Amino acid sequence: MVYLAFLLFFNLIPCFPSSSHAQNANLNLPLRAVNLGNWLVTEGWMQPSRFDGIVNKDLLDGTQVQFLSTRLNKYLCAESGGGTIIVANRASASGWETFRLWRVNASYFNFRVFFKQFVGLGNQGVVQAVLNGPTNSATFEIVRRNGDPNKVRLRASNGLFLQAQSETRVTADYRGSSWDDWDPSVFRMTIVNTLQGEYQITNGYGPDRAPQVMQVHWNSYITEQDFNFMSSNGLDAVRVPVGWWIAQDPNPPRPFVGGSSRALDNAFTWAEKYGMKVIIDLHAVKDSQNGNDHSGTRDGFQEWGDSNIGETVAVIEYLAARYGGRLGLAAIELMNEPLAPGATFDALAKYYRAGYDAVRKHTDAYVILSARLGPADPQEFFSLASSMNRVVIDVHNYNLFSDMFSSMSVQQNIDYIYNQRASDLGRLISANGPRVFVGEWTGEFGRNDASTEDYKRFARAQLDVYGPATFGWAYWTYKCVYNHWSLKWMIENNYINLN
Ligand SMILES: *[C@@H]1O[C@H](CO)[C@@H](O)[C@H](O)[C@H]1NC(C)=O
Repeated sequence: MVYLAFLLFFNLIPCFPSSSHAQNANLNLPLRAVNLGNWLVTEGWMQPSRFDGIVNKDLLDGTQVQFLSTRLNKYLCAESGGGTIIVANRASASGWETFRLWRVNASYFNFRVFFKQFVGLGNQGVVQAVLNGPTNSATFEIVRRNGDPNKVRLRASNGLFLQAQSETRVTADYRGSSWDDWDPSVFRMTIVNTLQGEYQITNGYGPDRAPQVMQVHWNSYITEQDFNFMSSNGLDAVRVPVGWWIAQDPNPPRPFVGGSSRALDNAFTWAEKYGMKVIIDLHAVKDSQNGNDHSGTRDGFQEWGDSNIGETVAVIEYLAARYGGRLGLAAIELMNEPLAPGATFDALAKYYRAGYDAVRKHTDAYVILSARLGPADPQEFFSLASSMNRVVIDVHNYNLFSDMFSSMSVQQNIDYIYNQRASDLGRLISANGPRVFVGEWTGEFGRNDASTEDYKRFARAQLDVYGPATFGWAYWTYKCVYNHWSLKWMIENNYINLN
């Protein structure tokens, strides 16, 4: 009934390609799907070994470091957070004392400070953070001590070492070479945060090795066998995270590597062969919508905004044009997990409208809008969605990333699913808005003392509660080194049975 009405509606639009009407005719909702996480958008925590061949793999793009002058016992600091000189007078370190690496190669880096300027050299070798972009003169070699790699000296582009002459005078003019603690050029480096996304792995391996490493990964991480396994174990769709660079295949801008669209082609071929559907999920957008590893960010700053809308719509248009006619296409998700308030409602609403229109030029497949992470109401896009057809809202549910869940007992975590999650989801479903999709959830939760039986009950609770979601759900993820995050492992070990 719904489908007939829809067909009628779209037949009235002359530019619409009639060949793609067929694709959603056999789409049985709700979908029971699994995410193919860490396949076409790298997330190092899910498979750390993929980074093992990188030299200085602890110094990737976006790594946040702090430098303690061993002589002064004070931290280097971008005074005022940036825009002026570097000083060495802080007894403890937080934001202004933290430098984000941009990796030039295994030992040369730019340093980006709190307010985003880059560290470089001023008059008489004075070290300052005033540059808006990295230049050659803003490149520093991190020289690590043999056997004590976090004892470092920083060689500036003039060939001389950076020294903390005094608490207020940091210059790049030192010619000595000792590792003694009294040496003003010696620092104790602390790594306070790391990123392991697509930017980090491709730039880490560099242009000579990255293409081969990524190709091996794409060919081996997900194979036809996996689609066979998924389809025979009760799954009927995959949600495939992709990055913006896919639209420039086979020659994406460095450091990204060409070939991910061929891998996505394979996903369609295999899905169609095993009677499954594909949800394409634009997971990483240029300039990052949330600062997370999986947004493709270089340094963790969340910078996606108005000025990125056009180029992001172009990525959606590429995907819709390339896959719009495929029988396996179930939906295109316009952007994964935009984070409020940085990703503003206005910018997103404008983007969602334009992205939806771009999809509709090529296909009647469902269009998925993500609810924003952070302090935002998942219904905030419902009024926008009411002007759209075949549209879905995606909400992600994790009993993780908050002390709230780790301080709850196992039973309280399970009750939270049956009470809070169920009522939240019920409210969305009954709001008479778009279809509802729980696009990410997992069997792991905020207790590390749960028993096998507990994990089974926790998974059961979520299947019970998310089952009624009108578009369906997708487990995060298919494959992961942490067992409870891997649906493959959960099925093979009888924690979850979908048949
Ligand atoms: C790394 O980059 C620096 C600065 O551009 C350059 O001088 C050096 O030769 C490079 N090293 C390698 C191994 O490419």
